[in-house]
Amino acid sequence: MAWTARTTLCFLCVLVCGSWRPTHTKHVMYGEVQSPQYPMPYAPNLEKQWDLSVPEGYQIQLTFTHLDIEPSDSCYYDAVTVVYDQNVLGRFCGQENSGNQRVLSPGNRLTLIFQSDDSNPEVHQPVGFSAHYQAIDIDECAMPEPKDDSGPLCSQICHNTLGSYICSCYHGYDLRPDQRTCLLSCGGGIFDELEGHLSSPGYPEHSPHGMSCQYTISVEAGFTVTLNFTDDFHIESIDVPQGPDCLHHWLMVTIPDRKPVKLCGGTSPGVMATNSNTVQLDYHTDWAGLSHGWSLDYNTHRVKCPFPNTVANGRVTPVLTEYSYRDYIHVRCNQGYKLMTDGSEIQSFSSMCQSNGRWHLPLPECQLIDCGQPEPLLNGGLTFISGSKNQYRSVIQYHCNKPSYDLLGGVNVSYTCASDRKWRDNNNVPVIPTCIPVCGEPTAQITGIQRILGGETAPANSIPWQVMLTVNGGRGGGIVIGDRWIMTAAHVLTNSEGNLVEKGAVKVYMGNNNVNELLKHEPANIASLHVHPKYSNYDNDIALIKLQQPLTFHEALMPICLPAEGAEYTTNIVGMVSGFGMTLVKNQMLITNKLKYVRIPIVDQGTCSDSVIEAKKAYRELRSDLTANMFCVGVPEAGTDSCQGDSGSAFALSTDGKFWVAGIVSWGVGCGVSGRYGVYTKVGNYVEWINKIKQDNQN
Ligand SMILES: *[C@@H]1O[C@H](CO)[C@@H](O)[C@H](O)[C@H]1NC(C)=O
Ligand SMILES: *[C@@H]1O[C@H](CO)[C@@H](O)[C@H](O)[C@H]1NC(C)=O
Repeated sequence: MAWTARTTLCFLCVLVCGSWRPTHTKHVMYGEVQSPQYPMPYAPNLEKQWDLSVPEGYQIQLTFTHLDIEPSDSCYYDAVTVVYDQNVLGRFCGQENSGNQRVLSPGNRLTLIFQSDDSNPEVHQPVGFSAHYQAIDIDECAMPEPKDDSGPLCSQICHNTLGSYICSCYHGYDLRPDQRTCLLSCGGGIFDELEGHLSSPGYPEHSPHGMSCQYTISVEAGFTVTLNFTDDFHIESIDVPQGPDCLHHWLMVTIPDRKPVKLCGGTSPGVMATNSNTVQLDYHTDWAGLSHGWSLDYNTHRVKCPFPNTVANGRVTPVLTEYSYRDYIHVRCNQGYKLMTDGSEIQSFSSMCQSNGRWHLPLPECQLIDCGQPEPLLNGGLTFISGSKNQYRSVIQYHCNKPSYDLLGGVNVSYTCASDRKWRDNNNVPVIPTCIPVCGEPTAQITGIQRILGGETAPANSIPWQVMLTVNGGRGGGIVIGDRWIMTAAHVLTNSEGNLVEKGAVKVYMGNNNVNELLKHEPANIASLHVHPKYSNYDNDIALIKLQQPLTFHEALMPICLPAEGAEYTTNIVGMVSGFGMTLVKNQMLITNKLKYVRIPIVDQGTCSDSVIEAKKAYRELRSDLTANMFCVGVPEAGTDSCQGDSGSAFALSTDGKFWVAGIVSWGVGCGVSGRYGVYTKVGNYVEWINKIKQDNQN
């Protein structure tokens, strides 16, 4: 063995430096190098170089399997030289066949230079060398720390790999992006679960130095975070004259809109209610001192809303001991009350406890309901019996205007404002009553015995059903039988040819006993005229006039009743005839301006019939017969009768204090002549017809 290593070889350096170039050849993991012509002897004056390389992260190990180079001192003449990065790793000559000659390159490159001088030995001609090289993995982890202060290759744990290495970190640390150094993992970050656990890094071990860890607890709005530190709490505090101070180490608790608090010392803060849904914790240590650390559990509570007030006359449900975020309350009013908000009524009310701890709507009020103004009663009125402002449970009573109207059914009905805001009677019916006209009951009574001679002026309000008609200027009578109906004789509404007159030719006046007063007012508007269809020759001498507007009755204007079913027409019973017609004054027939009346009895039908037959003999033009639709009134001695001007007026009988219309003044022979009677339409025969006409002409 004869080889020496030198750090430099001057002549070689020039040679090597000039030829050293990065090789772009594909890296191989192993290979062979042999001197030229091997195993034949090499030629003199040779100079040959091999640049070997293997992949990055490997070293090259070169092993000479056969060495046969002319020996010389320090291999001065013929030699194979191994160079790495301008450093000669070895220089070989002589003979060696053991494979023990090895060179390890510090890097992944190696250069071999073979050279021979110009002399050829005579005895033995050397054949050169044969070498094998292979890539050897570098254990980077075992390499000494670089001297340039950049720190170890891996700051914590180094793993050698084939051709390279990787770094990793102790538990609790994270590898930095440089893939070499480790950063304390403080477990910081955002905690958004409704409960959780946090502790200082490495807890219960001492906290590392020089760290700033941030923990953010941020749960959804509507929840508040409560921190619960365990007893085992220690953060270095420094005693300053003002007391212990969190000067170098601290845990800072930051709650939005509040001054941050720094915690340190050896006493656990225990339970901290933050009343916030976000809390930030900043744990800070510097490069000195000692903190044992801390640990906490946190949990959350729903935000609470204030306990709702009570609502007068209403109820807040549900009743809970406390109200939290997302709880609903409802308000219902007691019966008879309504929900009101901002002056308007609402159908229902509910309010939710919001995440900000406030109710989303203010509570409503319960106000008494009211039924509104009660419906007015035509021809009547109402009085409040109790309560006011039409409010719930107010009681009203309807009444009809006396004496002209009566309540249908007769008794006053009271109505109560019910919870459905309707006025309801004692039977829960919400329909208001009706006022019906009182018939046949004048307020002024004609009293005293009356001479049945001539006529008497009727006292005011004693015959309020009396109507004065003018038909084409001529005067006739009529009878009020309903608020839209006037009854008269058919012949009043027909002309001399027996035809119905135009309704414009008819004027209706009523409500006063004085013609001059009557004529001061506009006549009532007529809707239609209805003459009995079988009217002929005074038979069926009945007609109805329908008015356009209903009459309002009062003391001076009131209807007379219609005959009851089966009403009796008893001979000699005295009835009352009235009218604005002719009257006999001092044996002269005068037209009267004052309402007159006379009381005369009903005459026996046979007697009257005979009288008519007699009269027909005297008056050839008289063609009428007395029919069953007629009856007669009068006295044999003459002087009192109804005369022509009265046609259409009533012959009234009184039964049980009520006047009813028994007859309509129809015809007669002469006026006040002895043995002659007035003939009247027998209204009792026409009640059905009257009702039918009314029925058929309701609107
Ligand atoms: C705080 O934690 C301790 C121990 O873990 C527990 O006993 C206590 O009930 C907690 N306090 C609150 C208010 O959560
Ligand atoms: C009906 O009501 C009127 C007016 O309120 C009253 O004058 C009358 O006495 C009442 N009649 C009855 C029977 O209650």
